[in-house]
Amino acid sequence: MQHTAKIMIDGKTFELPIITGSEGEKAIDISRLRQEIGLVTYDPGFASTANCQSSITFLDGERGILRYRGIPVEQLAEHSRFVETAYLLINGELPTQKELTRFSVLLNDHSLVHEDMRAFFEHFPRSAHPMGILSSMVNALRAFYPEIPERTEEEEINITVTRLLSKVRTMAAMSYKIFRGHKVIYPREDLPYAANFLNMMFDSPVRRYVIDKDLVKALNVFWILHADHEQNCSTAAVRLVGSAKVNLYAAISAGICALWGPLHGGANQAVVEMLGQIHENGGDWAPFIARAKDKNDPFRLMGFGHRVYKTYDPRARIMKKACDKVLGKLTRHDPMLDIARRLEEVALKDPYFIDHHLYPNIDFYSGVLLRAIGIPLNMFTVMFAIGRLPGWISQWKESIEDPNWKIQRPRQIYIGPNERDYVPIEERG
Ligand code: ACO
Repeated sequence: MQHTAKIMIDGKTFELPIITGSEGEKAIDISRLRQEIGLVTYDPGFASTANCQSSITFLDGERGILRYRGIPVEQLAEHSRFVETAYLLINGELPTQKELTRFSVLLNDHSLVHEDMRAFFEHFPRSAHPMGILSSMVNALRAFYPEIPERTEEEEINITVTRLLSKVRTMAAMSYKIFRGHKVIYPREDLPYAANFLNMMFDSPVRRYVIDKDLVKALNVFWILHADHEQNCSTAAVRLVGSAKVNLYAAISAGICALWGPLHGGANQAVVEMLGQIHENGGDWAPFIARAKDKNDPFRLMGFGHRVYKTYDPRARIMKKACDKVLGKLTRHDPMLDIARRLEEVALKDPYFIDHHLYPNIDFYSGVLLRAIGIPLNMFTVMFAIGRLPGWISQWKESIEDPNWKIQRPRQIYIGPNERDYVPIEERG
């Protein structure tokens, strides 16, 4: 029996279907509301609005659960590697050994970037933020790798997906090398995805980079934890822009732009900057907590709070463990980790943070982990973007294959002036 919700307007009752997800989540289907009743709904920030039905990621913000295609993220972080998790997200199932090998070979085959693209990289101002560079370069990929009419749509999508996953990693490392004025290091056929990235970032003709398997593992964990997070701001941007049937490069470029924001992917950089300020302040976190609690101060404790998690972000817990492990192994002391731990301890006991359900999110510890791996601060959000790529791609693919596909076009409630006449310029006061 289909459940329904009743809505009463001006004495008339209307019935609306209720749809139920595979984990029991319920939603009122209002898709025919305007057509049948003449009303729209108002929901700033979409806090109560589901934009799609999706079988990719399950997230329960109250219970702190995150699963990709049904598999808990804790298990993936422990046992999987980023490329395998990317395959899972994009194709729906874990690959067999044969499928994984084929996927890895394809990623290797497509890992070079058109040499002419280097000219682009070289002409960005030195001060350009790598996220701005990355979004422009991803958009530019379409010009360098145009559609080939002889290919079927499926072939075209598959090759675009592989190119993106492979080349974005190369382009990210390339932009760092060019930014530093160093020789670009090419991808190596003998190295897997994460190790290859670290090598492209840190190898140099005068100092060989020694690949450390624990750092490779930490990077895999970092990327797996970022791989998808259902309908967050950047994923919603990819779906929305993609709904206009733009090419995948353009949709992903829009996602990168959205991720750049300090309230989203830019938070990992903002967290380390904040921890640095606390460090410079002699480690005194109290003024920062006080500012975060002050209603008249726009300052927020970066890395705290989440639109969906009202408990500890499960990814933050894994990230914290990974930080402890990497820093322990490197026997390197990072004052930022001490400050982060102390800040967390204080905030979790503070009534303001308790009452507002503010817990550390993924970004709170991810910056400390990236520092330990050796990633420079201005590349932090780029690292997030590489990780989120499989999520964006799988969500885009799901949306264009959705039988209920529609161009996304929200409504509004107009609150501007009522009709009035144009006033000639000489008569304006
Ligand atoms: N520090 C202090 N107060 C906060 C914080 C914070 N980090 N986050 C939320 N609050 C307070 C708000 O001031 C507000 O208080 P009020 O109700 O007394 O006015 C209340 O909590 C709710 O805040 P909203 O902004 O409405 O919550 P929303 O769900 O829209 O925002 C967000 C979530 C943007 C993540 C927010 O918590 C924030 O700005 N956090 C800091 C930035 C950050 O860490 N972003 C990374 C998010 S994770 C990711 O993108 C991967």
